[in-house]
Amino acid sequence: MNRKVTVVGGAGNVGASVARVLATKGLADVVVIDIAADKAKGVALDMFEACPIDGSDARLVGGGADDYALSASSDVVVITSGVPRKPGMSRDDLLQVNYKIMQDVTAAVVEHSPGCIIVPVANPLDAMCQVVYRLSGFPRERVIGMAGVLDSARMRTFIAMELGVSVENVQAFVLGGHGDTMVPLPRYSTVAGVPITELLPRDRVDAICKRTADGGAEITKLVGTSAWYAPGAAAAEMVECILKDKKKIHPCSVFLQGEYGINDLFVGVPVKLGARGLEEIIQITLTDEERAALQKSADAVRELVSVIGV
Ligand code: NAI
Ligand code: 2OP
Repeated sequence: MNRKVTVVGGAGNVGASVARVLATKGLADVVVIDIAADKAKGVALDMFEACPIDGSDARLVGGGADDYALSASSDVVVITSGVPRKPGMSRDDLLQVNYKIMQDVTAAVVEHSPGCIIVPVANPLDAMCQVVYRLSGFPRERVIGMAGVLDSARMRTFIAMELGVSVENVQAFVLGGHGDTMVPLPRYSTVAGVPITELLPRDRVDAICKRTADGGAEITKLVGTSAWYAPGAAAAEMVECILKDKKKIHPCSVFLQGEYGINDLFVGVPVKLGARGLEEIIQITLTDEERAALQKSADAVRELVSVIGV
C-alpha cells in the first residue's frame, strides 16, 4: 500500500477498532502505537493475520512509545490514546490526565509525521483537539476531531429504530461540543429527504435528541467502559474521506475563526473532508434557539480549554 495511517493508542478499544476497519477495507498500511508496546505488537499482528481472510493487502505493525519511527511519514494519525470514562463519569472528568497524554503524543507525532493530518479522538474531545492544534503548530485544516460522525450515527440509528426504516435512508446532524450540551438538529435530520419534524410528533423528536446526547453514557452504563465499535467506525470513516479525497460533508470538531460567531475554539460543525483535511466549513442557517444552544455548547468547551490554558 502506498498510504499509511498510524493509530496512537491503537492497542486500546477505540484504536484497535479504527485499525481493524482500516485494515479490513484495505485503505492503508496501519501502524499501531501504544505505551502498552507488546499489546500493540500483538494486536497489529492479529489484525495482519486476518487480512488473508478479509482479502486485504494492508500491512500492519505495532510498537511502543519508543517506536514512533515505524509511523514515519504517515498520511493520517488518529489519536485515541487516553483514559476512557467509567460509569458515572463525564467526559470532562478526563481533562487533566488526557491533557498530559496528548502533550507527549503530539510531540512524537509531529516529529515523525510533520505533514500528516491528525484526527484526535480522546476525550474531552474538543479540548483535546485544541491541545493538539496548539502544540502541533499545524494549520487548522490538518487537525480534525472525531465526535459528530459518531453522535450523528447514533441519532441516525435512533431515528431508524423509531420509524422502522433503513438506516441508509436516514441523515442526521449533531453540532456543538462532544458533551452533554451537544446540539442535535432535527430540522436538518431527514428520512429520504423528509425532515423528521414532519414525520414524528415533537415528544418523539425530543426523546431521540435526548437519547443522542446521552448516547455515550448509555453504552458506558451497560458495558462498564465507553463505546468502541461505533467510535472506531466513525474515525475510520473520516480517515477514508481524507485518503480517498471524498469531499463528504460530516460534522467534525474544527478550529473556528468566526464561523457560527465562534472564535478560536474547536467545536463540531459541518465540514467538507478531503485530501487536504478540512476543506470547507459549511455554514448552515440556524434558528435563534439552535444558535443559542450551539453557543452554550461552545461556552462549555471554552470553559474546559481555559482550565488547561490552551
Ligand atoms: P482504552 O483504555 O481502551 O485505550 C486507550 C489506549 O491508550 C490504551 O491502550 C493505553 O495503553 C493507550 N495510551 C495511554 N497513554 C498513552 C500514551 N502516552 N501513548 C500511547 N498510548 C497511550 O480507551 P478507549 O476506550 O480506546 O478510549 C480512548 C479515548 O477515546 C478515551 O479518552 C475515550 O473517552 C475517547 N473516546 C472518544 C470518543 C469520541 O467520540 N471522540 C468515543 C469513544 C471514546
Ligand atoms: C462516547 O460518546 C465516551 O465519547 C465517548 O461514546
